[in-house]
Amino acid sequence: MYRLLYDHALVHTDPEAAHHAAVEAIALAGRTEPVRRALKGTVGHLGGPVRNPRLLAFPREIPGVLGLCAGMDKNAEAVLGMDALGFGFIEVGTVTAHPQPGNPRPRLWRHPDMRALRNQMGFNNDGAAVVARRLRELRRSSAGRAVVVGVNLGKTRTTPLDGAVEDYRASTHEVARWADYLVVNVSSPNTPGLRELQQVDALRPIVRAVRDEARRVSGREVPVFVKLAPDLEAGDISAVAAMVGEEDLAGVVAVNTTIAHDLGPGGLSGPPLHDRAREVVRLLRRDLGTRPVLIASGGITDAASGQALLDAGADLLQAYTAFVYEGPLWPGRVNRDLARASAVGSAGARGGG
Ligand SMILES: Cc1cc2nc3c(=O)[nH]c(=O)nc-3n(C[C@H](O)[C@H](O)[C@H](O)COP(=O)(O)O)c2cc1C
Repeated sequence: MYRLLYDHALVHTDPEAAHHAAVEAIALAGRTEPVRRALKGTVGHLGGPVRNPRLLAFPREIPGVLGLCAGMDKNAEAVLGMDALGFGFIEVGTVTAHPQPGNPRPRLWRHPDMRALRNQMGFNNDGAAVVARRLRELRRSSAGRAVVVGVNLGKTRTTPLDGAVEDYRASTHEVARWADYLVVNVSSPNTPGLRELQQVDALRPIVRAVRDEARRVSGREVPVFVKLAPDLEAGDISAVAAMVGEEDLAGVVAVNTTIAHDLGPGGLSGPPLHDRAREVVRLLRRDLGTRPVLIASGGITDAASGQALLDAGADLLQAYTAFVYEGPLWPGRVNRDLARASAVGSAGARGGG
């Protein structure tokens, strides 16, 4: 139903206007208690808690393997609604220390033939202080406290690269108390120079500042992740993986959008990204060793493509683009299919039918 609507009607609307309308509708559903409960009890199938010793890095259980990628709910307005649709954890942001409008429009394009998106949003967001206020409000309700929320942090565009450490520290100061985990995003192609921060010498002081500031303001260990681009060379991936171990970080989120395309400006997401995402996850798992957590995204469209990233070494999954193309029933459907496949797999392993 949604697919028909998307392919025949929504595809002709302005993509960014459609995005805002969808996020607002989901936010409203989340705020309207009977609707939220009804969604959670029907379409929002979670698939069940993820049993994996690596996930002890998190302060609490992750109720479903499929999370929502950063970039959809940039300002933490729709967390309860996304949770009700079946996302096991919600990554809000990217949030920057200072509010900023992002790049001029147009900055979001559809490629329906590939079921892909291309964006150069440029971290449009309300800023860390406003997002922190929304998260504090969220955490006042029992439903809001129950949701696993990550906050993805980026550098303010006007902050020079040599001011990046203090910029990430300032965002952390605002949001860390309300976050189940933090992600240092140095992989967006849409903030000039940002991806240079993936070089270990530049990245190390940033992750230390985030980890230390989070500990200081929250009084606990907040798991810290680094989010990587799919376009990194294997040597750079290994270097980041080594640093994750040395700095005792929680793990890596891989991958962000790719610039390896000739479709126009911005980063490409969706199915064209999937093969590279799987390769990066495989390399990362090899180089990270057994302890760090690996959260994988990149062209997950169904249970099989999600399972492919799990088989390559991921512990948790995240998606964005397929949710846009497939609609609100999609996360619950993928969770149900993944759970069914793993039940069949374990019955097969036991010699059952
Ligand atoms: C419109 C759009 C905006 C995005 N904004 C962000 C962002 O603010 N921060 C971030 O870390 N990733 C952002 N991403 C990247 C996604 O989080 C994800 O890593 C990527 O899209 C791959 O997953 P997918 O193929 O399921 O979409 C954005 C992606 C899209 C399509």
